Amino acid sequence: MKITYANKLLNEIEANLEIVLLKRSKYLKTNNMFLKEKKLYVKIPNYKFYTITEIITNVIKYINKINKYQSIKIALYGITNKKIQALIDGLLLGSYDFVRYKSKIKEIKLKEIFIANENYQELQFSYEEIKLKINNHIIINKNINLTREIINSVADDTTPEKISNWIKEELENTNIECLIKDKNYIRTELPAFYDISKGSTNQPNLVHLKYNEHKEFKKIVLIGKGVTFDTGGISLKPSEYMYDMKLDKAGAITIFGIIKTISELQLPIEVHAILGFSENMISNNAYKPGDVIKTRNSKTIEIMNTDAEGRILLADLFEYAQDKIKDIDYIFDYATLTGSVISAIGQYSAGIIGHNSKLKNKMIKISRQVDEWYVDLPFNRFFFEDCYKSNIADYVNIPTSSIGGGTILGGVFIDNFLDKKYKNKWLHIDMTGVAFIKNRWKYHEYGATGFGIKSGIKFIKFLI
Ligand code: BES
Ligand code: ZN
Ligand code: ZN
Repeated sequence: MKITYANKLLNEIEANLEIVLLKRSKYLKTNNMFLKEKKLYVKIPNYKFYTITEIITNVIKYINKINKYQSIKIALYGITNKKIQALIDGLLLGSYDFVRYKSKIKEIKLKEIFIANENYQELQFSYEEIKLKINNHIIINKNINLTREIINSVADDTTPEKISNWIKEELENTNIECLIKDKNYIRTELPAFYDISKGSTNQPNLVHLKYNEHKEFKKIVLIGKGVTFDTGGISLKPSEYMYDMKLDKAGAITIFGIIKTISELQLPIEVHAILGFSENMISNNAYKPGDVIKTRNSKTIEIMNTDAEGRILLADLFEYAQDKIKDIDYIFDYATLTGSVISAIGQYSAGIIGHNSKLKNKMIKISRQVDEWYVDLPFNRFFFEDCYKSNIADYVNIPTSSIGGGTILGGVFIDNFLDKKYKNKWLHIDMTGVAFIKNRWKYHEYGATGFGIKSGIKFIKFLI
């Protein structure tokens, strides 16, 4: 579907249907829409950012359900500069439908959306400026939908190898350099990552993406958990918890979406995306409770529970990143690390963890502007006392002397693998709940939400 910001007024544009946005209407109360002849009247009772996105999502779904119009036109009536994003978000997020596994796919007639250069209030920017803005939000939302598609895809279609090849193909004609390291490299260079992947015949892959390397920009490293399926390993998950585990790659795929968007927006920043793809399986080769494994820098971890595999993967990825990349300005990791984040804060937010409160608060504040919510899960010094102490190794992989606070404790574990100089430059994002939903929610259908891209881009723009 194509969205064009036409340098024309509404009546100069040819389209099958016009969307008329109304602030007030006594005819439109319970139902927000009314179709008459070639016009669809839509009531947006308040012009809040998220209301616009939600209602426009419903509009697109309604139009696609009727499936009769090839083109629609819409004016920016009542939509100010700041809210244009909300409109584009609704148009594109609303048109996403996960049909990969349906045998009959309805062909969607709607191919073109024209936005007229017409407004009740004067827009404060020129046509060219608004056009650039619209195009940027098109890029962001297309990447959100791409991210949703991959996270929604089942584990057999997204094995580490398939996903790495797909990433490589997807980035072929971009200015992102794509390095893929296979099992043999991982075995010697990231041995803990290798160990958690041993149980699967699908070999692990490390994907290191680089954008603007060696330029004089600020340098940001994004580290992602890409467990393509998490059975829990020998500490097997009960079936009702295992069912969702194709989503355990969400962190890595979100980062892929972020770096791809950054490159398409040509942002002046150096970005490294370090994605670890692994399948946590149960087999006679799988790593076992009681094993002691070694990370890249020879720290030893005693395995108490093979289901706490994400933090082990991240430990090695952090060590790799800090060895390979010098003078990092910011280092953020995205992961579906703990189920307990849902008990702690519910399913509509991500947990945000780190030593630097200022950085955390900035991220939380900026994200709200794009309707993505993060909740600060603060460390306190008691969490750092002995909870990962092992009798026979440097660390255990799940806390032995602490009750509750599992998500914060996930952060405490990762902290052990972070150089001192980066402690204040790090944020850990636990996105377990919000990455994937079971019921339609606002402008999200069942499945992957694509959470993290909008806020990630907005925050990184701020950091530049
Ligand atoms: N991938 C899971 C976390 C998860 C849970 C993701 C539910 C999506 C939905 C992670 O690897 C895991 O199993 N974590 C354990 C940690 C525990 C053993 C300390 C958990 O949350 O139970
Ligand atoms: Zn697990
Ligand atoms: Zn996991």
